[in-house]
Amino acid sequence: PKASTIFSMIQPTGVFHLGNYLGAVRGWADVAKANPDPTTEIFFGAADLHAITMPKDPKQLQEWRHDALASILAAGIDPDRCSVFFQSAIPEHTQLYWVLSNSIGMGYLNRMVQWKSKAGVAESASFFEDSELLSQLKHGLFSYPALQAADILMYKSTHVPVGEDQSQHLELTRAAAQSFNAQYASKKKPFFPIPTTLFAPTKKIASLRDPSKKMSKSDPNKMASIFITESPEQIYKKFKSAVSDSDPAPFLYDPENRPGLSNLMTIMAGVQRVSIEDVEKNIADIKTFGELKKTVSDIVVEDLAPVRSEFDRLKNDRAYLESIVNKGNLKAREKASKTLKEVYDLIGF
Ligand code: ADP
Ligand code: NA
Repeated sequence: PKASTIFSMIQPTGVFHLGNYLGAVRGWADVAKANPDPTTEIFFGAADLHAITMPKDPKQLQEWRHDALASILAAGIDPDRCSVFFQSAIPEHTQLYWVLSNSIGMGYLNRMVQWKSKAGVAESASFFEDSELLSQLKHGLFSYPALQAADILMYKSTHVPVGEDQSQHLELTRAAAQSFNAQYASKKKPFFPIPTTLFAPTKKIASLRDPSKKMSKSDPNKMASIFITESPEQIYKKFKSAVSDSDPAPFLYDPENRPGLSNLMTIMAGVQRVSIEDVEKNIADIKTFGELKKTVSDIVVEDLAPVRSEFDRLKNDRAYLESIVNKGNLKAREKASKTLKEVYDLIGF
């Protein structure tokens, strides 16, 4: 079915890295360009309420919120086409979160792996069987997928562009919508549309220092990530020190046995919007890892150059960023308050 509302968010928890860029914001820009029909509404948010599920310094968070706006726009998102907003500016998100909390099972939340990775426990960990987790884990980190469900359903979103790591949370969102619909709406006229996940064309980007982990803003090792605001010198330096292996050419994609190499190839494919097979062809003449890293660096440096300069320009224009987000907040609030009113009517408030 045709997209009628496209929605996604990203946490303002640091300058965006290549994974956020290829797995999220550049993909959002592509999706927006592919849906020029103005009857399709588009909302992209900075998920600042989600950001506090891990402790944050207030001054730092304030800075990161603006970095997120500048990064979203620098990635090519047209603010005349898309509403760019702050989650915390729309109180209806937390109101709907409460409502949906009554449609989401504790066991379901307990199976989500994202909070486990943030809490630093195994994917098999259970909140209910681990008394230490039980005493240390905050309710916000455990229940934030319910807030995410509210974020998405708030806009009656039909299409949600995200990276692969979000698939479980999108499943939970669909289950929450179905459960709410079953309780409060008629079978013939479901209230919340069941949102479709639009996975980014780029696979998960791994850490440059440990390809078994994803590249993440929260990784304390800053050499593990390429940030979209980085200078060419820094980019060359980071790729130079990226994990590789000692096998000779040819350089063929093999994530199991050559994860470092395969990650570099995933980055090339993502940046150039080509398949892994094409990357293999393009690098067929390369003989050494050094040359290969130089090639990846060249590609990334060239692609990020305009993003970086646009980010710097926007970062210094606080008034412009404020005007964009104020406009986006108004649009988002208009739709959110309408949905919440309908929800309250259905419930009997
Ligand atoms: P982070 O984990 O870096 O804090 P977020 O949780 O804010 O990032 O995720 C924002 C978006 O970026 C999501 O759509 C997510 O799928 C995508 N994303 C995050 N890390 C990566 C990665 N390493 N590779 C691909 N996509 C990613
Ligand atoms: Na994340």
